[in-house]
Amino acid sequence: MIHSVSIRPFPDQKPGTSGLRKKVRVFQTPHYTEAFIQSVFDAEPGLRGATLILGGDGRYLNREVIQVALKMAAANGVARVRVGRGGLLSTPAASHLIRISGAIGGLILSASHNPGGPEEDFGVKYNIANGGPAPERVTDAIYARTLAIDRYLILEVPDLDLDRLGEQRLGEMVVEVVDPVADYAALMETLFDFRTIRALIASGFSLRFDAMHAVTGPYAREILERRLGAPEGSVVNATPLPDFGGGHPDPNLVHAHALYEHMMGPDAPDFGAASDGDGDRNLVIGRGRFVSPSDSLAVLAANAHLAPGYSAGLKGVARSMPTSGAVDRVARALGVACYETPTGWKFFGNLLDAGRVTLCGEESAGAGSDHVREKDGLWAVLLWLNILAVRRQPVAGVLDEHWGRYGRNYYVRHDYESIDSAAADSLVEALRTLLPQLPGKRFGPLQVEAADEFAYHDATDGSVSERQGLRVMFEGGSRVVYRLSGTGTSGATLRVYIERYEPPSGNLHQEPAEALAELAAAADAIAGIAAWTGRNAPDVVT
Ligand code: G1P
Ligand code: ZN
Repeated sequence: MIHSVSIRPFPDQKPGTSGLRKKVRVFQTPHYTEAFIQSVFDAEPGLRGATLILGGDGRYLNREVIQVALKMAAANGVARVRVGRGGLLSTPAASHLIRISGAIGGLILSASHNPGGPEEDFGVKYNIANGGPAPERVTDAIYARTLAIDRYLILEVPDLDLDRLGEQRLGEMVVEVVDPVADYAALMETLFDFRTIRALIASGFSLRFDAMHAVTGPYAREILERRLGAPEGSVVNATPLPDFGGGHPDPNLVHAHALYEHMMGPDAPDFGAASDGDGDRNLVIGRGRFVSPSDSLAVLAANAHLAPGYSAGLKGVARSMPTSGAVDRVARALGVACYETPTGWKFFGNLLDAGRVTLCGEESAGAGSDHVREKDGLWAVLLWLNILAVRRQPVAGVLDEHWGRYGRNYYVRHDYESIDSAAADSLVEALRTLLPQLPGKRFGPLQVEAADEFAYHDATDGSVSERQGLRVMFEGGSRVVYRLSGTGTSGATLRVYIERYEPPSGNLHQEPAEALAELAAAADAIAGIAAWTGRNAPDVVT
């Protein structure tokens, strides 16, 4: 029995960098979740009779929203939904499933690296038929619909059993519960030389993968332990928990601190890695050596040809604007194009679809390739392992050689979290006004060469995305970028990205904080961060 439930629009359902993210409590507001899902359905003209993919990272509210989405999909005429067992799908696995199922798109329930639990975050994201996050044209249509919606459609039926593999019916619709890992693991076997990686591990190479109690646990166990032969226990925190064990499933130096300490300690294995809540981010740490995500992207680009899936070379690479220019240098050496996009994976989709790039990445621990249309944490880990297995060198050795050839882009990101939204907006507005006056000004020993606000012109579809970050470039190639986060759920988060290039002949082994101290001081002085935010230091440094 299809019910049409009358509702009034919610004014705050504008998708951000990566779907709609709010506190769990907000999603629990009566009709709130349904209103957003119905808006997605209403904005997707091909939905009726189509296949839809559904899954999430297992955080608090995941199962409930899966049930709601299934009943709504049935009421909206969807022919088939393929849902991960237990309602689980990592974001890259969902992207892959969309692509191999000929699906119209998919709903991914996640707030990525944000914490989970009744007082924490939840999210709903729509991905389109290419497997990638809906581009702005689609998210704009969804948002417009949220402002006008007056009803949603839902089937009044009991909940489905999500833990039983196979097909069930929901009204006219078929619900197929699939193994969340199988297709993804099979894809990884086509891209990487599992035999060579297995041989490396069999020869005594040790690793630790920290799944942070999030969705990659089952994937990492199957691939790293079962298929590649890493000893049981190499994957830690492997059981997905609704609250991620009370932690913050963000693989950075702050939240994956335990892994970092272990990798710097006397008993460190050869290789350490972590992923985030929904499995699309990665952190790589060699024994005694942290790899910054921007460097990781550059190393992967320079060595990808060592893996079977990329043996033909790269068509091009892309990075988000705030990501360091390390990969640009590799692209130049390879003679391929390097595209600079705004923050957020959705901007890479067109370039990947057009065959212009093979590899892309972001400073926020995201890297991926044309194998799916999302960033992919385990993929990056496997590419690293494939490279190490072929080169038979430690992580530190690979990185040292890389810097010795290309130079080093010292890089750090400062986050000022949960600051007052109005103060954050004022800071940005004041800085925007200041930009034209900056060139020629000195801050300590540093002279500003240029300053602008980044706008992106998509070469494949002509679309333009304005206001994607404020940039201050200094003589000598250093730069500072400022932007406000589009994924937070309380107040505003100011991100300040600081970068300085050191040529191969320079000092390649400084602490980033030291190497960037003058720039960081200039970054604060230029934007008046302390004055606007009342903070004397960032909350998170990555
Ligand atoms: C953050 C990251 C960005 C990433 C996004 C989704 O967005 O900075 O690189 O694509 O999460 O994982 P932000 O909060 O900066 O808008
Ligand atoms: Zn994520």
